[in-house]
Amino acid sequence: MAEQKYQPTARRAASPRSARGATITVPAGGLADRGPAAPPDRIAADAVDLSVDLGRGLVLPNPILVASGTFGYGVEYGDVVEVDRLGAICCKGTTLKARIGNPTPRVTETPAGMLNSIGLQNPGVDAVIEKYAAIWQTWKVPVLVNVAGESVHDYVEVARRLDGVPGVAGIELNISCPNVGAGGLQFAIDAGAAGEVTAAVRRATDLPLLVKLSPNVADIRPIARAIADAGADALTAINTLSGIAVAPGRRRPLLGNVYGGLSGPAVKPVALRVVYEAVQAVRIPVVAIGGVMELADVLDFLAVGAVAVQVGTAIFADPTLPVRLVDELAGECGRRGMTSYRDLIGTALPKKSERPSSKGVEYRP
Ligand SMILES: Cc1cc2nc3c(=O)[nH]c(=O)nc-3n(C[C@H](O)[C@H](O)[C@H](O)COP(=O)(O)O)c2cc1C
Repeated sequence: MAEQKYQPTARRAASPRSARGATITVPAGGLADRGPAAPPDRIAADAVDLSVDLGRGLVLPNPILVASGTFGYGVEYGDVVEVDRLGAICCKGTTLKARIGNPTPRVTETPAGMLNSIGLQNPGVDAVIEKYAAIWQTWKVPVLVNVAGESVHDYVEVARRLDGVPGVAGIELNISCPNVGAGGLQFAIDAGAAGEVTAAVRRATDLPLLVKLSPNVADIRPIARAIADAGADALTAINTLSGIAVAPGRRRPLLGNVYGGLSGPAVKPVALRVVYEAVQAVRIPVVAIGGVMELADVLDFLAVGAVAVQVGTAIFADPTLPVRLVDELAGECGRRGMTSYRDLIGTALPKKSERPSSKGVEYRP
């Protein structure tokens, strides 16, 4: 059904005068049933409140973030993007020790997306702090350090080193990593392991703690609940979907690491479903990621209950997109007469009287 855009205002119906004061003819039956009625009063875009509270004092100026691994450490984009206009930056995945990453090739295009197997190439947490934290401290935009590891100890140690560092606004835990202690099983696919690593990091730092969900699971809800119960301040969803591509000649998989992570518009429906389910399972805020290309995608993620979104793969095609989305979101709210974007959140969720959705489970083959 088309959205109802025009609401008659009481002021207009009560005062049948044109703007210049001339009396206008009131038709039989009055003005109330005559369309189209007056549009809602516009709000100036810069008067729309886009701020979002992710907990533990982390209040972002707006709900458009850039996703880990797609915006470097932010400094690389300083010449082309007004980084201070972003809601937050999630920096590249950071580990305890430097990592050289996976063998090449590491990326390939796919229909409506890409596969990557970068393998968390990074200089290690100490070098990240030394090289970038002082720069981040001079920025208005909060920087969240994306943390990865192969054991609970790794995560805890990285979090401990980031704790209290000026310029570090929070941590986003990337738990889609093989847990060496558990035979290479990913933390993100097991509620017990996800809860355990979250609780351990929670004890190690007072920084705002976001935990990133993997879509590569049968049911996201017990995992989301375990992470929330373990003390995370917010969830982010989703990381990439596991996939492979075949090399030319078809004698082996294409990526040096065989497996890669699928991202881009192709994953958006999966991300929408995961966010929709996670939002109904926990009481902490959920930040959506997956295939955001335009304002309509942002509005879709807000409608299924996300409080904010991250832009990832689309940045490779257009690094200016995230800042433009901030303006477009404010403009959209202003046009609709909304003083805050918050009324856009959760409009597509089941009404309170309905049972929590189990549709995602029903639809699985
Ligand atoms: C090249 C590349 C590198 C990435 N590196 C990381 C990373 O280090 N840590 C992480 O949590 N997610 C990483 N991601 C996943 C993204 O942050 C995001 O969750 C995913 O790409 C889905 O969003 P998108 O479809 O908008 O790209 C990476 C994605 C890409 C494409």
